[in-house]
Amino acid sequence: MNTRHLILAPLRGVTLRCFREVFADVLAEVGFTEAVTPFICANPGLDPLKDRELKPSNLPPLRPSNLLLTPQFIGKDPEALRFCLERIKSAGYETADLNCGCPFPMVRNKGRGSGILRTPDVLRRMMEVGCEVMGPGRFSVKTRLGVKRTDELLQLMPLVNEFPLRFLTVHARTAEQMYEGACDTDALRKVQEVAKVPVVPNGDLPLSTLQPSSPPTFQPSALMIGRPFLRYLGGRADIGELLDRYVEASRAELHGERPVLGRLKELLAYWKDLPDWRRRWQIAKMARSLDELKVW
Ligand SMILES: Cc1cc2nc3c(=O)[nH]c(=O)nc-3n(C[C@H](O)[C@H](O)[C@H](O)COP(=O)(O)O)c2cc1C
Repeated sequence: MNTRHLILAPLRGVTLRCFREVFADVLAEVGFTEAVTPFICANPGLDPLKDRELKPSNLPPLRPSNLLLTPQFIGKDPEALRFCLERIKSAGYETADLNCGCPFPMVRNKGRGSGILRTPDVLRRMMEVGCEVMGPGRFSVKTRLGVKRTDELLQLMPLVNEFPLRFLTVHARTAEQMYEGACDTDALRKVQEVAKVPVVPNGDLPLSTLQPSSPPTFQPSALMIGRPFLRYLGGRADIGELLDRYVEASRAELHGERPVLGRLKELLAYWKDLPDWRRRWQIAKMARSLDELKVW
């Protein structure tokens, strides 16, 4: 991985295929080289190639995308994961990621997402299958510092270090913090110190982290960024035009106005604190039709 490897974080409901296609030029301009898909369920009986993220689309791509696309899976059943990985490999995907970070109690209490951190045997089996099917250096894991404490991942590093992972992305919060509160960069650094695989930092990293003027300690080989990129979009001069395209592409993909409205509101919500959007958001969040939504 080179020093400018910038990965778009998976954000379910936002950084979808349609989003990545409409905003492809901006993603390239900012320097993104890879995107991890929002999670796809690796449950017995589900075919990942039928998921909208990976399903061959009837619609032509809006822009040819140069982003490496890494499908992400969530689950705790190694054989279901094996099936998913074999399917995506057969469709030409060369990398895959395992979600070990989803913080929602409904998910983690069932041992999925960040819940896997509490079942090391399951984590071991999932990493075994991932590295075996995708091959060494082609399977990555995205996780948090822990469920309740910031040293839980650190305790698991001897296990993680046994596997030839492509990288380990660490969102520097606990699951209990959800998406709020400060990231713990000291705890992240402790993980980096013992990791034998590349560690990709994640969590509230400003886009300016990419500038060459940033202190060298903040220049790891790769970074993952999600919400700061979304917030940056809201301040772009061409955002109105981009949003028009997003509406149009979403209408072509979805049935009816309601899901399009829902999708657009998910994105606009990231801009509610920006001066230009504060008032617009108050109107947009109440909109019941696309005409009402068009506040830009
Ligand atoms: C609405 C939303 C959806 C998310 N969906 C996923 C997901 O599908 N898979 C995943 O690994 N992380 C998911 N995340 C976590 C992000 O990928 C990322 O770890 C987190 O937002 C911190 O990074 P950031 O501050 O750069 O956004 C989601 C976060 C949000 C807010």
